[in-house]
Amino acid sequence: MEQETISAVDAKFEAQKIAFAPIFFQAIVSMRDLGVLEYIYKKRGKAVVADIHKEVGLTKYAVDVMVEAAEVMNVIEIIDGKAKVTKVGFYLLRDEMTRVNVNFMNDVCYEGAKEMRASLEESRPAGLKVFGDWPTVYEGLSKLSTDVRKSWLEFDHFYSQDAFDAALEIVFSEKPDYIFDIGGNTGKWSFKVCEYNKDAKVKILDLPGQIAMASKNAEERGFADRIDFHPINMLDKNQLVPKGADAIWMSQFLDCFSEEEISVILENCAQAAGPDTYIYIMEPFIDNQDYPAAEYSLVGTSLYFTIIANGNSKMYKIQVMRDLVEKAGMEVVEEFPLIADSYHTILKCKVK
Ligand SMILES: C[S@@+](CC[C@H](N)C(=O)[O-])C[C@H]1O[C@@H](n2cnc3c(N)ncnc32)[C@H](O)[C@@H]1O
Repeated sequence: MEQETISAVDAKFEAQKIAFAPIFFQAIVSMRDLGVLEYIYKKRGKAVVADIHKEVGLTKYAVDVMVEAAEVMNVIEIIDGKAKVTKVGFYLLRDEMTRVNVNFMNDVCYEGAKEMRASLEESRPAGLKVFGDWPTVYEGLSKLSTDVRKSWLEFDHFYSQDAFDAALEIVFSEKPDYIFDIGGNTGKWSFKVCEYNKDAKVKILDLPGQIAMASKNAEERGFADRIDFHPINMLDKNQLVPKGADAIWMSQFLDCFSEEEISVILENCAQAAGPDTYIYIMEPFIDNQDYPAAEYSLVGTSLYFTIIANGNSKMYKIQVMRDLVEKAGMEVVEEFPLIADSYHTILKCKVK
């Protein structure tokens, strides 16, 4: 952390940005969803501010407040009465990571965010009540409304998807025949495995609701004979991971748990692993990202875990995970940092 050099005037301004952040956020989401930002973008610097309302079918008042908000947030600039989308505005309109993050915040996190304090004090996802009465979001995933689930899945997949192809190369360098995909969710990774290697088989282990969704997807994709399913609650010490895997794969899974719970899960993996089984942990770690936008998004994601997911998990720093691996009687035999320019690092582990 560098010594702070900010002036008092600027510091006070930064503090106001935090104070007004929730309603500025909603103003920009509305501006995007009502088509105002797109209209300004398409006019390429020639959108006459006084006329925008007529073109987009809104009142002058509605456009004025959004445009003024966007201008102070540096989403648009206005020169001689004409509006133009800035680089920040361009990212809000066209960048996939930004789209996925904004929708996730708006659809999944926003309403429950007011329960942050209760979540922190009571170590439970107090904001989850806006969707249903479940102890964690995972029991409710298959029951979320279509829109909310879409935003949740797009967010989840965006971060792991790019890494999957490079990860396949890493995992298959050991020629596994049978891969266990713990926390396999909708089956995305398992389907990739089946497409990548025509002989490999996969077992998806997840909570019962997820298994039902994943097996339906597998059926539809024609992989029913290559993938089998094992409903399991990995937090229940009595539910053991079966033996027989050549590789145990966990992608964006361990960040769904507290450090104590990760220990329980890794010990369960260790008991299932034979001397030739590799355990792969693929995670976006906070402290080895190339870009500040990535680190910022991951730290923000921890707050989603606080209010909606389970109230006790987060995105981790890499050393924390290395230590938990050691504690579970395993060792990290190789590390693959930020594979394929993604956000993810793979820790390849083995029992000691
Ligand atoms: C963030 S998703 C990971 C999805 C996928 N592996 C990927 O990389 O995109 C976490 C998955 O863990 C599952 N999960 C959460 N808690 C679990 C538990 N206690 N036992 C088994 N699976 C669990 C969820 O149902 C969900 O499918």
